[in-house]
Amino acid sequence: MDNFEGVTLPTHVAIIMDGNGRWAKQRHLTRVEGHIAGMDAVRDIVTTTSELHIPYLTLYAFSKENWARPKEEVKGLLELLGIYLEQELPLMMEKDIRFNVIGEKKDFSKRLQSELNGVIQKTGKNKSLLLNIALSYSGRKEILNAVRAILDDAKKGLVNRVDERTFKKYLYTNSIPDPDFLIRTSGEMRLSNFLLWQMAYTEIYITDMLWPDFRKDAYIEALREFTRRERRFGGVKEN
Ligand code: IPE
Ligand code: IPE
Ligand code: MG
Repeated sequence: MDNFEGVTLPTHVAIIMDGNGRWAKQRHLTRVEGHIAGMDAVRDIVTTTSELHIPYLTLYAFSKENWARPKEEVKGLLELLGIYLEQELPLMMEKDIRFNVIGEKKDFSKRLQSELNGVIQKTGKNKSLLLNIALSYSGRKEILNAVRAILDDAKKGLVNRVDERTFKKYLYTNSIPDPDFLIRTSGEMRLSNFLLWQMAYTEIYITDMLWPDFRKDAYIEALREFTRRERRFGGVKEN
């Protein structure tokens, strides 16, 4: 099934996990029930990523803009995040997965922040896969925060020249390679403020499948498509 011998898989996969609400609506369920179903897809995709020895996975779980959703939904999502952390820690330890958060952690309650930090710390020495979860994340805010931090460091005399390499160090993803492959479920053809700087040359894959339905087979099919892409980075095709 997943024989990828002799082909190059992405080093870093980023995913916009979209469509939980539509999935729930189709079944006359609440949006929160859609998010619950989405958590099973997360487990499937994380496990498959680890089995395929892909070293970096970034999942867009909650955008800065998502705070504007109805109170009940935001409350449900935050509760689910707490449940996810507790439930998935054993799997992370078993599969040697390091957990990391990108986004504005400070926006969350003290309790959730300490739960997040707990999992970050407990998985800190794991090496096989880095699982980045984007929470209260905004690509534009990430860039602005980087600019502010650079200005501060410049005042202290710590930077005097800003090039792409220096700039990258100030992003949440400082030590992580840029995503090679972006998957978005549910058919929307937009970035929704995700990893704006990092995705300059990322290959984009959009499927109509709703996130809770996006499981191992669909993921393998997406990765297969990646292996057929011809990346150019602005160059010309080499024969
Ligand atoms: C993605 O599903 C999950 C989050 C954004 C938290 P949505 O909740 O956006 O689902 P749709 O787009 O309404 O179907
Ligand atoms: C993007 O999905 C954010 C996440 C998947 C967490 P949205 O559903 O929030 O994006 P838009 O509103 O369709 O652009
Ligand atoms: Mg959506």
